[in-house]
Amino acid sequence: MSGVFNTDKRIRLGIWGLGRGQSFIQAANFLNIDVVAGCDIYGPMREQFLRNVPGAYCTDNEDDFLAYDMDAVLIATFLPDHSKHIIKALESGKHVMCEVTPFRTPAEGVRVVEAVEKSGKVFNLLENYPFSKDNMFLRKLWQDGFFGDFMYGEFEYLHEGRTLTYSYPNGNPMEPGYTVHNWRSSLNYHYYCTHSLGPAMIITGTRPVTVSAMFCDVTIPGYLEGARIATACPSTIKMDNGGLVRNMPGSTTNDYHTGMRIWGTRASAEKLHDGLRIRIGGGGGGPILQMKTQWPELAEWADKAGHGGGDFWELYYFAREVLTGEPAPWSIYPACDVTLPGILAIRSENLGGIPIQIPDFRDKKQREAFRNDNGDVKAFDPTKIFPGGHDTAITSDFSKTMIQLYPMNQYGGLYLLNRVMDGIKIYPHIADSASKIAIQDAARKLVADLPEIAKTMETALKIKNAYPDSMPGKTIARIIDFYDIDAILNYENTIQRLNRWLTTLVF
Ligand SMILES: NC(=O)c1ccc[n+]([C@@H]2O[C@H](COP(=O)([O-])OP(=O)(O)OC[C@H]3O[C@@H](n4cnc5c(N)ncnc54)[C@H](O)[C@@H]3O)[C@@H](O)[C@H]2O)c1
Repeated sequence: MSGVFNTDKRIRLGIWGLGRGQSFIQAANFLNIDVVAGCDIYGPMREQFLRNVPGAYCTDNEDDFLAYDMDAVLIATFLPDHSKHIIKALESGKHVMCEVTPFRTPAEGVRVVEAVEKSGKVFNLLENYPFSKDNMFLRKLWQDGFFGDFMYGEFEYLHEGRTLTYSYPNGNPMEPGYTVHNWRSSLNYHYYCTHSLGPAMIITGTRPVTVSAMFCDVTIPGYLEGARIATACPSTIKMDNGGLVRNMPGSTTNDYHTGMRIWGTRASAEKLHDGLRIRIGGGGGGPILQMKTQWPELAEWADKAGHGGGDFWELYYFAREVLTGEPAPWSIYPACDVTLPGILAIRSENLGGIPIQIPDFRDKKQREAFRNDNGDVKAFDPTKIFPGGHDTAITSDFSKTMIQLYPMNQYGGLYLLNRVMDGIKIYPHIADSASKIAIQDAARKLVADLPEIAKTMETALKIKNAYPDSMPGKTIARIIDFYDIDAILNYENTIQRLNRWLTTLVF
């Protein structure tokens, strides 16, 4: 018997999409789940999967995969394909878990709900952010009435992911190099609304009923010009108890993935960069208490999982439902509640910010009205970002060049240049010596890296000069305007100045 469930029953699981999909392999071990199969269209992900699960069945063919002997499928393929893949997996007789989000248009949502209802199988959305230690602690206090009625909350999923728009999940640049990521490159961040709205719903036990949003026209350079993933996407959501949530997914220059502030009528809480704080007393000025939270149970397993333990709990709830019938938090109906506000926020934006009612897809009459609603998706073809007949000897360098300029770990390329130049500007005002040393270390790394950064920038200029009116050409032109490109191209001079600064601290 496993340490978690009081049964010997096992769940044979196949993983469809082996990027994010592979991060569940470890937690599965604790939860009566045997990972027996994998499917990915990209060879390096299949190779990595077979290293992680030796002996498993692995294929690039989804029909062969779905025909394999297994009880359940975890879907972590490209986001725009999720609804199609959920329906196909259910029709093959499997229980289904799907990564966020499960659909991108209201019509797809209707089809998914009907497929789940018809199948009689378990469906869970893999929305993990409500199940961090702090959020589960808050949920318990909220259920106990500690915070009173939910009044207002600000929930954020801020994740600047430029690199992810030019790479595969393993960090390799997109192939061929003149293409960009299948869906992230053109994503309107409103679609990715569940990591912030999900915690608001689960903590407070409320459901969204109306949404309104306005365009933010200012974007961060380095994303493909015109892409709506390059900015903050706030919306205001009315919940069914009358309280308000400002829900904000987006890319910013101060990300914290899961920032939040929340007010009840008795107490309030906030979590930004440095842990959870609760303010008690029920007035505006009560004491603010720093919290040290604990898991409600199963700490030994939750502590080992990714996303602050959230990856363990979402898998746990699914396995529990399959093995014991006890319902999980993210069945198909709350999955619709948490997904539709993002889709309809875009509609509100397009209509100048007017509030849009969020349908309850539990109600057949309400969802019937959305059967043919194909949403407001505006995506460009990620394989056609250069004009027809482009010279691949030049354009094939694009994805690799962008990843060199914006590396995944944010400690190289243009991130490093900015960190050093701006760090030097405010250096005399930095309060602590650890931060000062960090800027000095970055300057030493920049001295070492600058010749290579200059070479990359020259390749970028070649692409821009060849195709100035293409999306990549405009993207690179914006980068040139934004950064101190002279400091890169005249790197010998810059290196001299940096070395002088490192000895005298005068630039
Ligand atoms: N909840 C979280 O914390 C979290 C974190 C990362 C990603 N995600 C979600 O997971 C999903 C996957 O994201 P990702 O980071 O792995 O990046 P991704 O979308 O690039 O990865 C998708 C993977 O699926 C493969 N794939 C696509 N279509 C396929 C098909 N028809 N058959 C077989 N394989 C196919 C791709 O080759 C790729 O390896 C996305 O929906 C994303 O939103 C969630």
